[in-house]
Amino acid sequence: MLQFDLITTDSASHARRARLTLNHGVVQTPIFMPVGTYGTVKGVMPRSLEEMGAQIILGNTFHLWMRPGLDVMRSFGGLHAFEQWDKPILTDSGGFQVWSLGEMRKITEEGVHFASPVNGDKLFMSPEVSMQIQTVLNSDIVMQLDECTPYETKGHITTEAEARQSMEMSLRWARRSQEEFARLQNPNALFGIVQGGMFEHLREESLQQLVAMDFPGYAIGGVSVGEPKEEMRRIMAHTPHRLPQDKPRYLMGVGTPEDLVEGVACGVDMFDCVMPTRNARNGTVFTRYGDLKIRNARHRSDHQPLDPSCTCYTCAGTSGVSWENGGRGGFSRAYLHHLDRCGEMLGPMLTTIHNLHYYLNLMQEIRTALEQACFGAFRTAFAEQRARGV
Ligand code: GUN
Ligand code: ZN
Repeated sequence: MLQFDLITTDSASHARRARLTLNHGVVQTPIFMPVGTYGTVKGVMPRSLEEMGAQIILGNTFHLWMRPGLDVMRSFGGLHAFEQWDKPILTDSGGFQVWSLGEMRKITEEGVHFASPVNGDKLFMSPEVSMQIQTVLNSDIVMQLDECTPYETKGHITTEAEARQSMEMSLRWARRSQEEFARLQNPNALFGIVQGGMFEHLREESLQQLVAMDFPGYAIGGVSVGEPKEEMRRIMAHTPHRLPQDKPRYLMGVGTPEDLVEGVACGVDMFDCVMPTRNARNGTVFTRYGDLKIRNARHRSDHQPLDPSCTCYTCAGTSGVSWENGGRGGFSRAYLHHLDRCGEMLGPMLTTIHNLHYYLNLMQEIRTALEQACFGAFRTAFAEQRARGV
């Protein structure tokens, strides 16, 4: 089941503030969803995720099918009990992940044949198989199997004819996904995925056909697949607001803090991206005043926290009072620089907590601005602060 209630809409943009009710709880939107591919948001305990205000996290059909496998998943009654997270979960269908295998796969109308990256076994993924796996996982939001149209392949930029073929197959897979999802009597919610490459009229066709199939929610796929930033922004400005007003809209795999703020202005309700977690692990940190590389020697004896305005455990300790507001409890840049130098595992754990807190808090600030009817002013102030520099 899924219920979507609009709370307020912005008068000057397509932004909306809403409440999404799923089988494992309520999600306040716009929302960012931390990525937990293998049934874990890398390096973060579920209790820390809750403390940071995470409301819904991602899992991956493809990865969890490979390991630990469906028998183990079934014995736990799904992913929630297995990974000890009792709030909502969204699972991606495997389309994007199978596509990422490159040489090791063969895509046909029926589905995708590929060799297991784990043990080389010959495997087959189809819309039906994806629905069967996601039903065992019991994720609150299930994604249709789609083909993520690449921006380019070995230097060849995808043509309109190729993008159309791919988009049309994703539509046929959407219908097959929907039929199998119903046959399995899956009690959760299935989202359709808009494709169409960089071609707006193809995206228009894709979304109209999906809307006619009446999904409880819609995603925009095939962005952040190697295209120039302006192209991504053009698609982001085109598609979301053309989807039904009364259904949730999810922009897959996006993006930077700036992308999230602009995406909300375009009418997006849900985002996911590996950026906060992956960047944290290689020492790139997001702050209100711009990004920072903890490896840089300038941080060697800096007593400041990563972000003086941040209330996360890394920056403010257990007090939750930021450095700017007189708090003294956090970890210093000098210490995090030291952990990085020594390759200590606490380093990426602390930077991950900070980055996720930054993304989740940014979405909270967006929701508050929408409630207070000042999203336009927020958007301007946000861009100015981010450009200031750390
Ligand atoms: N993640 C990022 N982009 C995509 C996409 O186009 N399809 C799917 N299934 N997942 C994605
Ligand atoms: Zn912080």
